[in-house]
Amino acid sequence: DTRDPTSLRTPIVAVLGHVDHGKTSLLDKIRGSAVIEGEAGAITQHIGATAVPLDIISTIAGDLVDPDDFDLPGLLFIDTPGHHSFTTLRSRGGALADIAILVVDVNDGFQPQTLEALDILKRSETPFIVAANKIDTVPGWKENEDAPINDTYESQTDRVRERLDESLYEIIGNLSDEGFSADLYWRVQNFQRNVGVVPVSAMTGEGVPDLLTVMMGLSQRYMKEEMEIDVAGPGVGTVLEVKEEKGFGTTIDTVLYDGTIRADDTLVVGGQNEPIVTEVRALLQPRPLAEIRTESRFETVEEVSAASGIKVAAPDLADAMAGAPVRVVRDRDLDEVIAEVQAELADIAVDTAEEGVVVKADTLGSLEAMADALGEAEVPIVRAEVGDVAPRDVSVASTAEDPKQQVILGFNVDTLDDAEQRAEIEDVSIFTDEVIYQLVEGYEEYVENIEQ
Ligand code: GTP
Ligand code: MG
Repeated sequence: DTRDPTSLRTPIVAVLGHVDHGKTSLLDKIRGSAVIEGEAGAITQHIGATAVPLDIISTIAGDLVDPDDFDLPGLLFIDTPGHHSFTTLRSRGGALADIAILVVDVNDGFQPQTLEALDILKRSETPFIVAANKIDTVPGWKENEDAPINDTYESQTDRVRERLDESLYEIIGNLSDEGFSADLYWRVQNFQRNVGVVPVSAMTGEGVPDLLTVMMGLSQRYMKEEMEIDVAGPGVGTVLEVKEEKGFGTTIDTVLYDGTIRADDTLVVGGQNEPIVTEVRALLQPRPLAEIRTESRFETVEEVSAASGIKVAAPDLADAMAGAPVRVVRDRDLDEVIAEVQAELADIAVDTAEEGVVVKADTLGSLEAMADALGEAEVPIVRAEVGDVAPRDVSVASTAEDPKQQVILGFNVDTLDDAEQRAEIEDVSIFTDEVIYQLVEGYEEYVENIEQ
C-alpha cells in the first residue's frame, strides 16, 4: 500500500449556549434537512455528536457552498446540554473542539451560561461564531423556510428589520463588553480577529445555509493544517462522559481527534488516581440516525477513525474522568504512553493548599475552571476532584478549623444522600451550582454573612 496515510479529518464543532437557546434544535434542523433531501443515511450519528458530510452541507447551503472549494470532509457537531458545562474544549496537544458555535436566543440575549461559555472559549482560545437564534420570533416575522439570511431579511418589513437589528446589536454590544470585537458575519473580513454573528432560526431553517457556510469557510481557511492527521495511527481522544451501560459495565464516551481505535487495542485512560491501562472490549456506535437522545441501540464496530465520537467498553473504567485523555498504545512502548497521559493530567492539575475549601466538578476541565475562578477570588482549595459530593469529601471539609472553610463547592455535580446526612451532622455546608461564577458569588455571600 503506497497511499499517503496522512489525510484531512473532519473539524469538531462544539455547540454551546444557555439552556433552551436552541442548540439541539439547530442540530435537529440540520439533520432534518438531510432527511428531507433523502440523504439521511449520509449523516452519521455518533456518541454525543453528529457528522455531516460536505456534500450534505453543500446541498443545504445551496449556492453559498461549492463543494469544489473545500477539501475538508465535513463537520462533526457536538451538542452540549445547557446545564452541563463543556469546559474541556481543548486538552494538551489536541483539540476536543476545533471551533464552536455559541447559540444565543435573540429575545433572551446573554444569560449566565452564555457568559460561562464565552469564558470557556476565551480560556481555550477556541475560534467561534455566534448563532443569533429564534429570529422567527421577532413580532411580524415573515417565514421563508430554509432561506439564506439575506433573502429572508430583504422580504421583511422595515419595522421587523429594525427590531431584529436592535436585538443583533445588543448581542454585538454584549460580546464587546466581554472583550470580543464582533459584527454581523457578512461584515467580518478577518474571522480570527472578529467574531461573526449569524442570525438564524432553528425552527424555520432561515440562516442555516449561512451558518454552515461560515463554519465550513472558517475551518477550511484557518484549520486546514491542524486537520492533517495520520488516519491509521494510534488513536488520541478525550473522555466526554463516563457512563454505566447495561451489559457493558462502565463505558467511556470518547471524542477521537486523531488516528484510529480498533477493537483489539490497548488503551491508556486518565483516571482519578493513576492512568488506567485497559483492553478495548467493544467499540459501540449508535445506529445511523437512531434516536440520539436515548442512545440505547448500538452497533459494535471493529474500528473508528478521527474525528468521531465512540462509546468504548473496557474493564476497569470506574475511575476514568470526564475530560481526561485517552490514548491507544498499539505498537508503542506502554510506559511511554502512560507518561504521555500523566503529562497531560499534570497539565490540568489543580494547586492545593494546606487549608481551604473542598471542590468537586463534573469534568477535569470544569475543575480547572473552578480552580481559576477561586484563585481569582483568593479562596484556597484543600482538595479538588472530579465526581459527585461523597461522604469522604464531608470528612475532609469537617476537619477545617476556619468555619469559612468547612465548605464543599460542587459544580455540575450531585450530592450523594449519605454525604448530605453526614454534612448536617458535621456542620459542613455544601454549595452546588451549574454556573461557576454564581457558585463563587454564593460562597462569597456566605463568607460575608459569617464575618458580620
Ligand atoms: P438545552 O439542551 O436544555 O440546553 O436546550 P437547547 O439549547 O438544546 O434548546 P432546544 O433546542 O431544546 O430548544 C429549546 C426550545 O426552544 C424548544 O421548545 C424549541 O422548540 C425552541 N426553539 C429552538 N430554536 C427555535 C427557533 O429558532 N425558533 C423558535 N420559535 N423556537 C425555537
Ligand atoms: Mg439541548
